[in-house]
Amino acid sequence: MTSDNSVTRSEHPSDHPHIEALHHAAFGPGARARAAFRVREQAPHDLSLSFLTALNGAIIASVRMTPVLVGATEGLFLGPLVVDPPRKGCGYGKALMRRAVAEAAERGWSFVILVGDEPYYAPFGFKRLPPGQVALPGPVDPARLLCAELEPGAVAGLSGMITAARR
Ligand SMILES: CC(C)(COP(=O)(O)OP(=O)(O)OC[C@H]1O[C@@H](n2cnc3c(N)ncnc32)[C@H](O)[C@@H]1OP(=O)(O)O)[C@@H](O)C(=O)NCCC(=O)NCCS
Repeated sequence: MTSDNSVTRSEHPSDHPHIEALHHAAFGPGARARAAFRVREQAPHDLSLSFLTALNGAIIASVRMTPVLVGATEGLFLGPLVVDPPRKGCGYGKALMRRAVAEAAERGWSFVILVGDEPYYAPFGFKRLPPGQVALPGPVDPARLLCAELEPGAVAGLSGMITAARR
């Protein structure tokens, strides 16, 4: 269960250094070598679709979403999802996932892709993409390339490289 004192809100530009510090604490310097990072460095994430949890004024969890293209089809790329290590296992990650996916659906996005552990993300509607259907700019374990279909039929039409959409 999450704490009653926690607040979830969309990200502001001034949150950036605090969220970067969370990423560093959770992933270390190796994160920049990952294929998912290479997608995200192409264009900024969407602040209005990126959420954080603050507890007693400190940012303790964050999820970001970046508009992407798969071939010519627009969708969202989710990540990083990160929780301050001492606060893991308290439900903050799940709460942010529910919020992010709900907002994406409400705003009419047709799919959300991420790279992550299927057992964690499956309860939010994420399933493995068929191998070879979607590529990232770097190697990725196909078992970790997951997609939540928000509009019926959206996944069947996806084909090609994920690139960040410049808006
Ligand atoms: C993964 C992470 C975001 C989960 O957030 P969290 O707030 O700790 O998780 P929650 O409290 O919402 O959920 C805990 C549940 O998820 C499970 N869980 C946590 N990480 C998991 C994983 N990688 N795979 C499967 N299940 C996982 C826990 O076992 C627990 O299960 P339970 O509810 O049955 O007890 C967090 O642990 C984290 O920041 N990890 C380091 C960064 C990272 O790996 N991010 C994901 C990149 S794809």
